[in-house]
Amino acid sequence: MKTLGLQLRFLIPLILILAGAAYLAVPVMDRLTLRWFARDLDMRGELVANALSESVAEAATDARGRKLQALFNRAVTDERLVALGLCSPTGQLLRSTDHFPKDMSCAQAADLANAKGANLHIEGGPVHVSVHPVNGEAGPVGDLVLMHDLSFIERRSQDTRRYLVILIAGLGAVIALVTLIVAQLSWRGWIAGTRALLHGEGLLRPNSPTFPELAPLAADLRERLREVEDEYKRLQGADADWTPHRLQTLLRTQMRGDQVIVVSNREPYLHERRGDRIEICRPASGLVTAVEPVMRACSGTWIAHGSGSADREAVDRHDHVALPPGQDEYQLRRLWLTPEQEQGYYYGFANEGLWPLCHVAHVRPVFRESDWEHYRQVNRLFADAVVAEARSEDPVVLVQDYHFALLPAMVRERLPRATILSFWHIPWPNPESFGICPWRSEILEGMLGSTIMGFHTQFHCKNFMETVDRYLEARIEHEHSTITFRGAQTFVEAYPISIEWPLPEQAKTWPSIGQCRSELAERLGIPRDHRIAVGVDRFDYTKGILERLHAVERMLEKYPEWQKRFTFVQVAAPSRSALEEYRLFQERITAQVARINARFGRPDAPVIRLLAQHHEHEEVTKLYRAADVCLVTSLHDGMNLVCKEFIAARDDERGVLILSRFAGAARELTEALIVNPYHVEETADALFHALNMPPAEQRERMASLRSTVHEFNVYRWAGRMLSDAARLRLRQRVSTRLQRHSGSGTIVPLNRRSRP
Ligand code: F6P
Repeated sequence: MKTLGLQLRFLIPLILILAGAAYLAVPVMDRLTLRWFARDLDMRGELVANALSESVAEAATDARGRKLQALFNRAVTDERLVALGLCSPTGQLLRSTDHFPKDMSCAQAADLANAKGANLHIEGGPVHVSVHPVNGEAGPVGDLVLMHDLSFIERRSQDTRRYLVILIAGLGAVIALVTLIVAQLSWRGWIAGTRALLHGEGLLRPNSPTFPELAPLAADLRERLREVEDEYKRLQGADADWTPHRLQTLLRTQMRGDQVIVVSNREPYLHERRGDRIEICRPASGLVTAVEPVMRACSGTWIAHGSGSADREAVDRHDHVALPPGQDEYQLRRLWLTPEQEQGYYYGFANEGLWPLCHVAHVRPVFRESDWEHYRQVNRLFADAVVAEARSEDPVVLVQDYHFALLPAMVRERLPRATILSFWHIPWPNPESFGICPWRSEILEGMLGSTIMGFHTQFHCKNFMETVDRYLEARIEHEHSTITFRGAQTFVEAYPISIEWPLPEQAKTWPSIGQCRSELAERLGIPRDHRIAVGVDRFDYTKGILERLHAVERMLEKYPEWQKRFTFVQVAAPSRSALEEYRLFQERITAQVARINARFGRPDAPVIRLLAQHHEHEEVTKLYRAADVCLVTSLHDGMNLVCKEFIAARDDERGVLILSRFAGAARELTEALIVNPYHVEETADALFHALNMPPAEQRERMASLRSTVHEFNVYRWAGRMLSDAARLRLRQRVSTRLQRHSGSGTIVPLNRRSRP
């Protein structure tokens, strides 16, 4: 009953076609049979005429015509032969039978006989007229006109018509029945096949031959199902924990296992030559801390500058090296720069130009034409490497940081279908500040080659959109957070970066808090009863190290009871030392530490310990665990991961975080003691407060901070970005499909990536 509609859809056209066929076939059939019969009658007439010929010739000699009349009367006793007549060779009707039409002349009879298919209607019904010559011994006797009955043909024709209609109706019924059965069976097959696909059978066994008739549909259906599933996972997973496994699942499902290529200046591991040994080192870089776990999860290719002294010795002939050492989870492709390129692109334009420009930390940006040239050159070099490493037309390219502002547009030119996610790890200033850059438009245009442009905070996104608005002819949709520039759309979003939350088995290997404290005290000669505060940074003027030292000094000055009970340990990894600004900064810090130590410390127990060298992660973790307070006083910072690492290390839920309000992290870590690092008094008071904070309050704050960092971990950072990318890729695919289906290309793509 449910399929009645479907069956009627087959039956009604079938019935109509058969009725039409019958309607057309019957008259054709009539004409045909009539023609056949006429031919038969002609032949029969020929026979009759031949048979009668002799007798007629003989009878014709009878002048009275009696013999001929008798012969004719005998002949018409044949039920088929209705009338007979004999015409003289001159066309005179000599003799005829009773039913021969009185008014018919021989000429008319001859015309009728010559006209094919023409019949004559006489009394008693239709007749077929044929004329046959009769020859006697003395020559032609005349023409014999025969009129055969046609009414039997009509009867036969009716019979034939009836049979034909019955045959067509019967045939129709059989065809309808077969069609219904086949349609019913096919329908069931389709339903079963589609159900199987919907239940995932086709997903697990995509080449299943069970329902070959569904093959054209199956691929589309599977794709749509995956999209629905991905969308569902995306929605369902919005609040769930982000883990490496979840990130891998996302990459496998929503990204279909597409290739992921990361581009950054800094490499995750450096091979350094120390005498005759090669050591592997991790650089002091927040970027590396964040991106490396993601890379491990997605097993992609990481392209970076090979800056270690033994880097060339460690790569294969394609400049690749598998990392992490011994685990081989992803590939690093090293690019080599000349000293001039490194100087111009990295030290010059990136770190003397863009770095101070974006941090607005009272150090003048320096813009040199030659630096800009190198910056462009190196961006092109890395873009070429991305294209060379791409295994498909649409890889997912994660572009890291201010070293590669031009690269997104360069890659887009060559791989228009790539999904380019750029993340700017440093702040983005307001349009006025950014406007002093001589190449502001080129930089913005380069960045807008990205599918997604990510910043740490909404504030930076807003600044970026306002900057684009100010300096480019672009359409900005604040509601959707998109910028449309030259026909291509870039989605601008905040993705707060974070760290990899330590696994429980990893945390189990950490020495206890007491052990960390006593080891540190012993190593640095810190009296056991001292409270310890730590700072961990690169030597960088944006980190507020100087302001921090002033705050420590002010605290000791203001609260002298702490002078003999407090030590501040500052770890500062040398950074960008080739730049004078950085060298001077390091010298200033060293001098300040000496001055404060001279003022408050004892020669055997200085109040500030400056450890001006790079520390490996394990050592830093021990330092965090040994500390009572951690000071992060950046003057401006995109996010800052030191504060998050400190929180992650404190599984005892103790320790106090003092955090600059100018670090992106301050927006998430509100349970920290938030300070303005420029306000020395405030920071000094916060330090005093931290040192006096009761354990219960410490626990309450730290527990909350820990749950934030645990949830907002680096997998969430990457996962959210990749989910958004997957959403945009899906839209792109749907748009392409719509275009393909429409054929006209008139549908406006949802996210057109190629430039006009
Ligand atoms: O924040 C910018 C950044 O690239 C960080 O990711 C990293 O901590 C720091 O600068 C490292 O700088 P460099 O690679 O120049 O040593």
